[in-house]
Amino acid sequence: MMIEELRKYNFEEKWIERIKKLGISKLYPPQEEFVKRRLFEKSCIVASPTASGKTLLALFSTINCIKNGKKILYTSPLISLAFEKFEEFSKFFEEYKVAISVSDYDSADPWLQNYDIIIATNEKVDSLIRHGAEWIKDVGLLIVDEIHLLNDKERGATLEMVIVKIKKLVNNIKILGLSATIKNCKELAEWLNCELLESKFRAVPLYQGVVLDHKIKFLGKEEIQLDNKLEIEESIVKDVMLKNKQLLIFCSTRRNAEALAERISRFLINWLKDKEIAELAKISKEIENSLEIATRQCKRLAECVRKGVAFHHSGLISRQRRIVEENFKNGLIKVLVSTTSLAYGVNLPAFRVLIRDIKRFEEPYGYRYIPIIEYYQMIGRCGRPKYDAYGEAVTVAKSEVEAEKIFEIFINGEPEPIISKLSSEPALRSHILSLISSEFCLTKKSLKNFFSSTLFAHQYGNIGIIEEKIENILEMLSQWNF
Ligand SMILES: Nc1ncnc2c1ncn2[C@@H]1O[C@H](COP(=O)(O)OP(=O)(O)OP(=O)(O)O)[C@@H](O)[C@H]1O
Ligand SMILES: [Mg+2]
Repeated sequence: MMIEELRKYNFEEKWIERIKKLGISKLYPPQEEFVKRRLFEKSCIVASPTASGKTLLALFSTINCIKNGKKILYTSPLISLAFEKFEEFSKFFEEYKVAISVSDYDSADPWLQNYDIIIATNEKVDSLIRHGAEWIKDVGLLIVDEIHLLNDKERGATLEMVIVKIKKLVNNIKILGLSATIKNCKELAEWLNCELLESKFRAVPLYQGVVLDHKIKFLGKEEIQLDNKLEIEESIVKDVMLKNKQLLIFCSTRRNAEALAERISRFLINWLKDKEIAELAKISKEIENSLEIATRQCKRLAECVRKGVAFHHSGLISRQRRIVEENFKNGLIKVLVSTTSLAYGVNLPAFRVLIRDIKRFEEPYGYRYIPIIEYYQMIGRCGRPKYDAYGEAVTVAKSEVEAEKIFEIFINGEPEPIISKLSSEPALRSHILSLISSEFCLTKKSLKNFFSSTLFAHQYGNIGIIEEKIENILEMLSQWNF
């Protein structure tokens, strides 16, 4: 479908012009289906691969909601993603007021009342609700980006609570839940009583492979021989530099990310042009002077950036995070080593993604494979339509057996289903306590009513058992004098 056809669906000329300005002249198949089914007027779960253009769907629904004078609340799991969407929405909706709210500072942020579109992280939205933000009742559309985060062990329960609370606070609110592949997306759509759009479309091919013995074996593409005189990471960097491309590496911890960036900095400088070295020196100074007194981390990051590589994690101060992202996007920083702080949603010019740690330490189990959903998100950061004709996502295997396992579990496997994380007793307890202390639920009946609307109840099916759990927790809390 050509963009002009949006006229048939009552999109004003100015919006059509602005979409064209984004460089979009024709809709991708899931976008076409979204328009034809008029899903921009409805609540909907979208399960469609990474880089299939889900942000445009969010723009369509926002256009529809904003004309009715209602606010739009966009929640994102990552600060970097929230800022990317803030930039896109501010430009696109230039005559409207767009705000971003991601700070840790806990308050109701009454100033947001004056804004039409509010972009925030999931945890920030939770805090705004707990502090009784009045403007929430004016929200007409809640966009939940990366809704598969419901399955996250640490953060999933909070997102679930946010969705249920907003549904309770605002009658007839529309919800647009966006995600890449979700196995049980039908179940999610049933829980939220909304439409479902499922697609397998990806605009740019993404080749997955495994690195072992200085070879990258791909599914559906010829293998690459790396320079076996070098350490594995150096040989991968060399291969990407020879192609004149950029590399994004995912590590399991901040420490690993910093240490690897430092190691790469020792040889990467050899690949830089004199002009780039001069530019990077300036950026490096800016990073070092981000704070009044440079910390060890500031110095370490500055030193890496001077040599064309950076690390990225949630411990960076916001100015440094912005400088690093900007200069990776403009091609000066060649290699970026990140934790999950860049794993979801963001559009980066990474031709290749390298998953360095496919296992992560988890109490009390020890080292375990990362969730498949997370793997899909990480590999989805390469092969983005704006930047490359195809992408390569490779994972480091430590042995032949592990290489086979990676093919079996991740490359040929299926993502795990999304299961409510409210089922864990500690999560349930802390959320019950928060509902009571924020006066969201003042009676036992309202608590039970609240939990009957959760994904937990939808999946569990037996509300009697959930009520019993709630009774037990209330009993425990009263024994503890809460
Ligand atoms: N119809 C289109 N034609 C050309 N480019 C498009 C089209 N739709 C989207 N794009 C571009 O594709 C890129 C990826 O889009 P977007 O970030 O919305 O993907 P996504 O589906 O949200 O991915 P993820 O699951 O990783 O968040 C963007 O650069 C966007 O401008
Ligand atoms: Mg997205």
